[in-house]
Amino acid sequence: MEAVLMREEAVARPDDERQKKLHVTLKSITSLAEDINAFEFVSADGRPLPAFTAGSHVDVHLPDATIRQYSLCNSPDERHRYVVAVLRDPAGRGGSVAMHDTLRAGQKLFISAPRNHFALSDSARRHVFIAGGIGITPIMAMIAEAQKRNEPFHLFYCARTSQRAAFLDRLKALVDRGDVSLHFDNGDPRNGLDLASTLENYVADTHLYYCGPGRFMDAIEAASAHWPAGTRHCERFTASELIKTTEAEAAFDIELRRSQKTLTVPPGESIVDVMRANGIEVDTSCCEGYCGTCMTRYLAGEPLHRDSVLDDEDREEFVMICCSRSKSTKLVLDL
Ligand code: FES
Repeated sequence: MEAVLMREEAVARPDDERQKKLHVTLKSITSLAEDINAFEFVSADGRPLPAFTAGSHVDVHLPDATIRQYSLCNSPDERHRYVVAVLRDPAGRGGSVAMHDTLRAGQKLFISAPRNHFALSDSARRHVFIAGGIGITPIMAMIAEAQKRNEPFHLFYCARTSQRAAFLDRLKALVDRGDVSLHFDNGDPRNGLDLASTLENYVADTHLYYCGPGRFMDAIEAASAHWPAGTRHCERFTASELIKTTEAEAAFDIELRRSQKTLTVPPGESIVDVMRANGIEVDTSCCEGYCGTCMTRYLAGEPLHRDSVLDDEDREEFVMICCSRSKSTKLVLDL
């Protein structure tokens, strides 16, 4: 998943807080659309869950020890539950199939505290959302927040068919008001939303938020390339084709300042690979630079960023150590 880091939270949040796990009960599983289920988690001890902001996601620790990120789609005003919506994707990495096929209501699980790499901008005066398929999930919480702020927005919601589009019932009133437009292409992208014309004219103080399948995201990124820096925010659940590289890789050193260790990262291996080979535990999930799990503060050196999560400002302070490398001969990490 790609996006803008909620900087204040990331800076203020101690590492143990970021990695804190919440013990929850899966209270209910509800069908939302074809192959899309909602999973409702409540605290296992009955206490309120940590507050979250629109655009947040949680890591779900599945019984087979895999970790997957899912965006929260309920209102950020709710403290009694977290709700995620998951598309069962047999061609995916297995997490969504495990969610659908193995989880049962009443089951106890661990999830992470919510993290937000895809926050609604405080400086925008108008919001444009584009959701592709299951990419609607974080957008639902963001719409709730925009409505609460009384800020104008428009959602372009793209899906193959209405049967494969979640939340249509909740969005109906907004469709009727003209705040949401629906675009069903029946499997032929030529029948879908015309991204070039939709994004051609930038209106001052507008921010764009988009989430969906990888190629859809790449197309939006290209069609909005002329928008001012800092006005585009996205969340990915696959790596961007636009950041993949065939550049030759050079070795570099990492200094783990707090652990007082220096290690060499050779070509073809990641920082995470080298740390694990040296017995150092690192939390990862996607390992492709889009989920944000491995976000690490660096103290010196110049990273070669290869993630699709951090924006330019965030990159002055953080690096995704599953995929990024170093332009400098040494990168000093706050680990
Ligand atoms: S960004 Fe997902 S594990 Fe690094």
